[in-house]
Amino acid sequence: MPMLSERARAVEPSRTIAMNQRARELKAAGRDVIDLTVGEPDFRPPRRVLEAAAAAALAGADRYTPVAGLPELRELAAAACLADGALGYGPGGLMVAPGAKGALSAAFMALAGPGDEVLIPTPAWLSYAEQAKLVGAEPRLVYCPPESGYKLDPAALRGALTGRTRLIVLGSPANPTGAVYSRTELEALAAVLEARPDIWILSDEVYRSIRYVAEAPSPAELPALRARTAVVRGLSKSHAMTGWRIGFLAGPQDFIDAAIAIQGQTLTCAARVSQLAAIEALKLPPAELKPMLEAYEDRRALVCAGLAAARGLGVTPPEGAFYAFPRIEGLVGATAPRGTIRSSDELALYLLEEGGVALVPGSAFGDDGALRLSFAASEACLAEALDRIAASLAKLG
Ligand SMILES: Cc1ncc(COP(=O)(O)O)c(C=O)c1O
Repeated sequence: MPMLSERARAVEPSRTIAMNQRARELKAAGRDVIDLTVGEPDFRPPRRVLEAAAAAALAGADRYTPVAGLPELRELAAAACLADGALGYGPGGLMVAPGAKGALSAAFMALAGPGDEVLIPTPAWLSYAEQAKLVGAEPRLVYCPPESGYKLDPAALRGALTGRTRLIVLGSPANPTGAVYSRTELEALAAVLEARPDIWILSDEVYRSIRYVAEAPSPAELPALRARTAVVRGLSKSHAMTGWRIGFLAGPQDFIDAAIAIQGQTLTCAARVSQLAAIEALKLPPAELKPMLEAYEDRRALVCAGLAAARGLGVTPPEGAFYAFPRIEGLVGATAPRGTIRSSDELALYLLEEGGVALVPGSAFGDDGALRLSFAASEACLAEALDRIAASLAKLG
């Protein structure tokens, strides 16, 4: 076979998906495995959304839509962004994409390229680094320790900037840590960036509505950053619609025009039937989504208490999203049947094989001192998983 491209050889497959794959293999072999690896809500989208999609499919939602999305959806999404975070970009400054990942990918293509550095505070969702590599840019991971709340602070930002820094990726609420930047923290970063008007911010806000703190401000709300912030949102997490592939990219007009040109030559558009469902989703009264949000709050409490009671784990309750990110330093050096636990990968493998619980090792996010547990699963499932984790950890020598 002729050689694959340099980019294809450089890109790493998703390690979250890799752990999920291992859990599936064990399940297929007859093991009883509780899979808490994937960031996929276990809820169904609201009924009205499903009905609208079914009706649209039967009525003939078969064709392409405009590249930027159906005008009604752009308007509703822009209004939703305006209401929730005062992003005043308007419908012309918003593009509908196939999932938040589609929006991120268009943004990376529009904003970074060969010779550019993309600054990524970690622990972070590692698709950011892979997407940076795919556009030929260089990911620069800046580790933000637990003591900093896993957040980039002005000193760390100042220290990481180089003449080639072109883009900073901020995720808030963050996957995997659940960290949420406050307005004051964003203002402090904006002050550092005042001297660097050549740098863009890519703000991933896909978990925005799932939070346990009063607000999760967008950098785009800060006048100092609005003209250079690209905002990514979507319905995958907020409306439990991961498979429908609806994301939104909002930002300054010239940037969105470029993203539309890119999408027009790559993905064309998000699926029409999904866009019609998304219109219905955005028309739902907020009360319809409340039970889901309340369920996440209850699960968060259950998971944090369960992990805190287990041997050797350090737990800080997440401020947003649906992941717990317990520290495992207290367990490094413990003895398992296969040998000493030295890393998050070995601990995750031990918990999978001993307890039948699949978690993602923190190494997948650039932090080997933690595990990620997704609590997008039922309370019964989580309670059983927590019992198994506690029992497995208690057995370590
Ligand atoms: C931080 C973050 N951003 C974006 C996405 C992708 O969202 P979508 O499924 O809409 O592409 C995910 C999905 O796991 C995520 O965790």
